[in-house]
Amino acid sequence: MSGAHVLAFEPDRLRRFAAVITRDLGIMMPDAKLRMLHGWLQRRLNQLGLASLDDYEARLQDPAERVALIDLATTNKTDFFREPQHFAYLVEHALPALSERDRWTCRVWCAGCSTGEEVYTLAMVLDDYAQRHPGFAFELVATDISTRVLRQAVRATYPEAAAEPIPEALRTRYLRRGTGPRAGFVRVVPALRAKVRFGRLNFMAPRYAVPGPFDVIFFRNVMIYFDRATQAQVIARQCEVLRPGGYLFVGHSESVLGMDVPLAHEATSVLRRVP
Ligand SMILES: C[S@@+](CC[C@H](N)C(=O)[O-])C[C@H]1O[C@@H](n2cnc3c(N)ncnc32)[C@H](O)[C@@H]1O
Repeated sequence: MSGAHVLAFEPDRLRRFAAVITRDLGIMMPDAKLRMLHGWLQRRLNQLGLASLDDYEARLQDPAERVALIDLATTNKTDFFREPQHFAYLVEHALPALSERDRWTCRVWCAGCSTGEEVYTLAMVLDDYAQRHPGFAFELVATDISTRVLRQAVRATYPEAAAEPIPEALRTRYLRRGTGPRAGFVRVVPALRAKVRFGRLNFMAPRYAVPGPFDVIFFRNVMIYFDRATQAQVIARQCEVLRPGGYLFVGHSESVLGMDVPLAHEATSVLRRVP
């Protein structure tokens, strides 16, 4: 850190950056997060060799730097088989309820996919289901706002320990162990990777440019970062691309209670679009 400039902790100044993050990403930035924001900005200024927030504000005119700020401001924690009841519910209840015809293609959107563990969990579960149900096919779209996590998701390479929550049979079928410099890592097999289309999408956009309508949307552990009004707007826009009868899965600590949206409660943090 020698030669690095120490950024003064100026709450008013930091609140201006916090307001930009809330405006652009929807992410709440109460005063309790100012220390964290100060830490991010300090690190970023050092990386760029900048001396002040004025210099950084000027740098933010560059779209590439706004992308870097998004990477700093987003929380990307995720896991394979996170909140595993949802995947069991999908296979045991949602897919049978959705399959009206012998042959059909289930269209799924993993919204806020982070580094890919959630969408590859879906891919494994859906592919496994397809093997047991002739006539069933699926398409997966996965989006996030952070280009850094999307790059990792496309790479589909994870430390072996991260794969532990995956049931043995699926691990054997859908992951390959790395060798040489890749020892200690696993990679999702090409056939499964090819099932997922990744894209960048900001939930603050007025309309969602995704190839809907979807039968299933997984939108988990993202709206906790938004205030209630923003949550309701985002959920309403998701309903526009969820077909009537389609399922929306939200995180276990999230709810749509009290929102004026066309969703009915089906099970814990599982909603269904009403016509
Ligand atoms: C905590 S992760 C959740 C990952 C996964 N859905 C899960 O449940 O494990 C939240 C993700 O939401 C993304 N995110 C946050 N704000 C966003 C926004 N305004 N638009 C799109 N994605 C956003 C973040 O980049 C991050 O990858």
